[in-house]
Amino acid sequence: MFWSILERYALKPVAGSARYSSVPHENGATKSETTPETPRGLPLLGLTPFLARDRTHFVDRLLRDFGPTVFLEKQPGVGNIMFSSDPAIVDEVLVHRSSKFIKSKHYRKVLPLTGKGSLLLEGESWRTRRKIIGPLFHPSHLNALTKVVAKVVKKYAEREFAPRAGEAFDISKHFNRLTLEVVCEAILGNWATDEEKTKLSQALDQSLSKIEPLFYPKFLSLPGTERRIKKDLEKAAKIIDDISRGIFHRVTLQPHVDNDFVSDFVHGKDGKEGADVESFCSEFKTLVFAGHETTSNALSWMWWCVFHPQNGGVLKSLQAEAAQVPDSPTMADLRKLAVLQNVISETLRIFPSVPSISRDATEDMNIGGWSIKKDDMIVIPIISLHRKGDIWKQPMKFSPHRFEEKARHGNYLPFSKGPRNCVGSGFATMEMLIIVSTLLNQFQFELIPDQHPQEEVHVTMKPSPGIFVRLKNKSSAFH
Ligand code: HEM
Repeated sequence: MFWSILERYALKPVAGSARYSSVPHENGATKSETTPETPRGLPLLGLTPFLARDRTHFVDRLLRDFGPTVFLEKQPGVGNIMFSSDPAIVDEVLVHRSSKFIKSKHYRKVLPLTGKGSLLLEGESWRTRRKIIGPLFHPSHLNALTKVVAKVVKKYAEREFAPRAGEAFDISKHFNRLTLEVVCEAILGNWATDEEKTKLSQALDQSLSKIEPLFYPKFLSLPGTERRIKKDLEKAAKIIDDISRGIFHRVTLQPHVDNDFVSDFVHGKDGKEGADVESFCSEFKTLVFAGHETTSNALSWMWWCVFHPQNGGVLKSLQAEAAQVPDSPTMADLRKLAVLQNVISETLRIFPSVPSISRDATEDMNIGGWSIKKDDMIVIPIISLHRKGDIWKQPMKFSPHRFEEKARHGNYLPFSKGPRNCVGSGFATMEMLIIVSTLLNQFQFELIPDQHPQEEVHVTMKPSPGIFVRLKNKSSAFH
C-alpha cells in the first residue's frame, strides 16, 4: 500500500528529458517531434528506491507506461540511466557500436566472486581470453561433453531423486546443485578430485546467495552491510581460490595434454603462452558463476510451465520425444528434440534467466535520437522485450509452438547478442536437453497444487520460494 502510493506519485508524467532530440540521427531513423514524457520521481530520491527494491519489474512497468525508451537523469547513487527495449537501440548498443560501451560499473560488484574473467574483462584482454575459452564451447568439444554431462546427470538422479520417490520437495534446489556439478565436471574433468569438486560447489553456492544487496546504492543499505557481505564473499572466494590454485599447480606438473581444455589453458596451445595462476582461477570462477545459476533457473521455470495442469499437451509430446533419446546421447540425437528445443526457448522468453543487462558509454554519442554522455548507463531489460504485448501474442501464455516459425527477431535475446553474447549458450542448451530428457524418462513429476512462485531477481531471476514437486519412479508409477 505504502509503496503503491509512493509509486503512483513518482510515476506522474512530466515534460521529457532535454536529452531527446527530434533531429534524425545518423542511422537515418525518423524521430517524432515530441519529446517523450518522463516520470517525475520522489523529491531528493528520484526513482532510486524503486530501482533498488525491484529493478526488473519496476523498469518493465516504466517502459509500459512511458514507451520503449526512458531516460532518467541524475538518479541519486546511480547517475544517468537510459532503459531501452527498442530493438534498434539494443542493436546499436550490443552489436553495431558495442566497442563504444563497457560492462556497467556495477558488474564489478561480483569481482570478489569471479575475479577478472571473461565476463568482466574489456578490450584486448577480453578478446584474448574469449579466444582461449572458445574451444570449451566449440561444437566438436560439446559433442565429447555430452557423455560427461549424461554421466553426471544419471549419477545425480540415482543419488538424489530415486530415493525421494513419493516425497514432495523443492526441485529448484536440486537443479542448482546439479548444474553446479555439471559445470565443474565439464570444465575440470579428471583434474579435480570428487572431494575438491564438492567443496568448490559448497563454497560457490554459499557465496552466490549473498551478492544481491551489493547491487543496491550504498545509501539504501544499513551501515556496514557492504563490508560484511564482502568479507563473507572473500572467505568463500579463498576456499575456491585455494582449490583452483592446487589444480593449476597439479596441471603444470603434468605434460601438456592436447585438446584437453584445462591443460591447453594452463600450458598454452598453438605456440601461445599458457595462463598464469590468477587468470586460470578467475576464469574458472567466472564460468561457474555465469553458467550454473542461469541454467538452473531456466530448468526450474521450465518445470513450473511444463508440469502446470494447463500444459498437459506439451508434457505428453515432451515425454514421447524424450523416450527416443538413448542413455548416452550425442549432439546428433539431441538435435532431433524439436519439441524440447521449443520448450527451452519459450521458457527463456517468459522467464529469461538474465532479465536485464547494462553497459556504460565510453564517449558522448547519439543513439536513436537520444544524446548519451560518457559514463551514462544503458540498461537493456531483456524481460520487457520478451513480454511485449504488441510483438508476442498473449505474452504470458506458455506456448512453445510459437517457436516453430523460427522467428528469432530482435525482440528475443535470452543469451544477449553481439560480440559479448553468452559464450556458453550451446553448452547450456545441450545440458538442459540432457537433464530434461533423462529425468522425464526415469521419473514422473507433479506440481504441488496452490503454489505461486514469485520472480525474484538476484542478478539472475529465480522462482521464490522454489518449485515444489512430488516425484514417482517411473517403473513403480506404472504398477
Ligand atoms: C540458460 C542459461 C544461460 C543464460 C540464459 C545465459 C545468459 C547470458 C547473458 C544474457 C549474457 C550476457 C551478459 C551481459 O552482457 O551482461 C551471458 C554472458 C556470459 N555467459 Fe551465459 N547464460 C547461460 C549459460 C551459460 C553457461 C552454461 C556458461 C558457461 C559455462 C555461460 C558463460 C557466460 C560467460 C562467460 C559470459 C560473458 C561473455 C562475455 O562477456 O564475453 N553462460 N550469458
